[in-house]
Amino acid sequence: MTTSRKVILGVTASIAVSKAQAIANALQYAGFEVRAAMTWSAKQLISEQLLSGVLNAPVYSQIWNPAQGGETHINWAKWADAMLIAPATASCISELWAGKYDSCVTLLAANIPPERLFIAPAMSQNMWEQPAVQRNVEQLKAWGVRFIEPVTGIVASKATGQRLQEPSAIVDYLKQVVEIQSPAQGCE
Ligand SMILES: Cc1cc2nc3c(=O)[nH]c(=O)nc-3n(C[C@H](O)[C@H](O)[C@H](O)COP(=O)(O)O)c2cc1C
Repeated sequence: MTTSRKVILGVTASIAVSKAQAIANALQYAGFEVRAAMTWSAKQLISEQLLSGVLNAPVYSQIWNPAQGGETHINWAKWADAMLIAPATASCISELWAGKYDSCVTLLAANIPPERLFIAPAMSQNMWEQPAVQRNVEQLKAWGVRFIEPVTGIVASKATGQRLQEPSAIVDYLKQVVEIQSPAQGCE
């Protein structure tokens, strides 16, 4: 019998949220079963319907009125072999550092063991260099959370910032850590 690995893609409100669809697709092509969760702020930047359509599944985007088939966040976290937050905002990283679990993404992450949590930050250079952000990243790493390191490049408004790695590179990294036993068919 073969099984595929299950991952929750957590999406937060970085300008790099425009890559969320490509990341979801790349995960599916790589054989992962994928569910997605979005913050309220992420939904101001891209539509929930886009992710739901790509995954052909409900997206967890409201703590108090969930549409994910009646399943709780606890059940979702139990279902997952790993959670990837990509893109991850400075705010999301700060919430995880502080143990503040007010969004769908951080609430799920709170129920995933640190070693199964993967964070791909994306933000402006000024944000990235904030002592608070650097402290939060270092502390989460010390707790066992793995960071998919961003790369320096041009982000919004032609400013320098920390960009997401390409979706294929993010997924390759995840594959190295979360073993795939049965590649799936992928999707369009
Ligand atoms: C257009 C726009 C782009 C943004 N891009 C980023 C970003 O790249 N990285 C970041 O950390 N915050 C960014 N922010 C700020 C976050 O959206 C804001 O801190 C928000 O509260 C994060 O919420 P969330 O982490 O719950 O999704 C951006 C805001 C706007 C309006």
